[in-house]
Amino acid sequence: MTNTPMPPPDPRNVQGMILRGYTHPYSCHMLFTFAGKPGAAGFIRALLPYVQSAQDWGDDKPARMLNISLTYNGIVTFEPALAGQFPTEFQQGPWSQGSQASLGDTGPSDPSLWWNGYAKDAIHCIVHVYGMTADALDSLVATVSQAAQANGVSEFLPLKSGSGRLEEYAPLRDFIHFGYHDGIDNPALGWPPDPASTDPSDANNFLIGYPGSAFSPGPETGAAGKFAKDGCYNAFRILYQDVKAFDQFLTDNAPKVVAAIGGSQDQAMEWLAAKLVGRWRNGSPLILSPDAPDPKTSDATKFGYSGDTAALKCPFAAHSRVANPRDEPTFPGTDTPVPRLLRRGMPYGAPPAPPDYDGERGLIGLFLCGALAGQFEQLYSWINVNNFSDVFSPNLDTQDALIANRIPPPASDPSFTIPVPNGNPIKIPSLPQFIVTRGTAYGLLPSMATLRSLAGT
Ligand code: HEM
Repeated sequence: MTNTPMPPPDPRNVQGMILRGYTHPYSCHMLFTFAGKPGAAGFIRALLPYVQSAQDWGDDKPARMLNISLTYNGIVTFEPALAGQFPTEFQQGPWSQGSQASLGDTGPSDPSLWWNGYAKDAIHCIVHVYGMTADALDSLVATVSQAAQANGVSEFLPLKSGSGRLEEYAPLRDFIHFGYHDGIDNPALGWPPDPASTDPSDANNFLIGYPGSAFSPGPETGAAGKFAKDGCYNAFRILYQDVKAFDQFLTDNAPKVVAAIGGSQDQAMEWLAAKLVGRWRNGSPLILSPDAPDPKTSDATKFGYSGDTAALKCPFAAHSRVANPRDEPTFPGTDTPVPRLLRRGMPYGAPPAPPDYDGERGLIGLFLCGALAGQFEQLYSWINVNNFSDVFSPNLDTQDALIANRIPPPASDPSFTIPVPNGNPIKIPSLPQFIVTRGTAYGLLPSMATLRSLAGT
């Protein structure tokens, strides 16, 4: 039997950030509350000329442009009839008990502390504004602000410092706080996927309304299915990075490395930083460049973990190995593919000038997927409790070494083991909390047709 290839989506109907990673160095992510349908429609109408689709812009790269995410509460402000027709986690929000079972935001990350005290369920819309220059960005941010004021739409400021807005820190370019090269590997978004294929990096796992995904993107039918078609969910998560705790951790634990394998304190600190992520700070994967960073592998994406059965190259709990286990055997006894995410995030806040670590900084995380529960939350549960593969001891559910919320034992074990050749593994009894969640919102990036219909044009 031959499978009929699926007709590909029309990129002109898909918001740009879904199908392509932007390289605009400046961005600002603005949060809004609607007062009612007419104002919300006027707001979207005013922004429509700037909304970037996924259509190829050739040599004519837009100097400024934006994309729009709507939360469930934002959608039902427009369309009350769609209430109850979306997946539960999207309707109830990332602070709900169901989502928190995976996201595990406790202590300083507790949802009651999110968004600078602003009501979580009052976020209706996130406008993601991009510019090639600071001036281009500022002018479009001003336009968005004016459109909000003119339509009775209120902006709120999620940060306590600076402008209060979530602005990208442009000088870091392709790097993020803690000093790592980021944004290297993303799903290939292959098309046309064979409807029988289960390649988790194919586009039908991200765009809603196409068959064949293993993760059930939806809604697929009825009025909500029509609304969501060619859209994609955006798990928008603001993660403060505690650079002081991170630097202190490297300083304090490097002597253990020196004692185990030799080298200088500085080399040991770099080695530890690489073991936390599975890549050296320049991006070289430990699997391909186990002994030192190598400029030739700094953007490498073709490698797997199944040959590293003793984790002598890359620890099992290293962030990259947990967030994308690649060919690591997972879910023994089933063939559910590894969920993938489109990462479209960027750093915010200036780096510290040690010994002064004051200041707000971290990651503006845009994690795109077709199914928030099946992809984003599934991966997050693996991050917080490493229980997805036989490679982890059944009695020792460790945690993502870099970003897990340190849920205390016995629910999970915050220790970190780094196997070394010909020796006893280096064991770090308790990893610090390097990351604090400042806020999370679940948005939908609707299609261009849906945005036009909301605007009444
Ligand atoms: C502040 C928090 C975070 C930091 C500092 C961080 C850092 C990194 C770094 C340095 C890499 C390796 C570079 C690359 O492959 O592009 C990476 C990869 C990755 N991260 Fe994160 N990350 C953070 C949060 C998250 C979260 C919350 C998720 C998922 C929900 C996530 C998912 C991934 C994935 C899927 C990869 C790619 C792994 C691969 O394909 O090999 N990260 N991250």
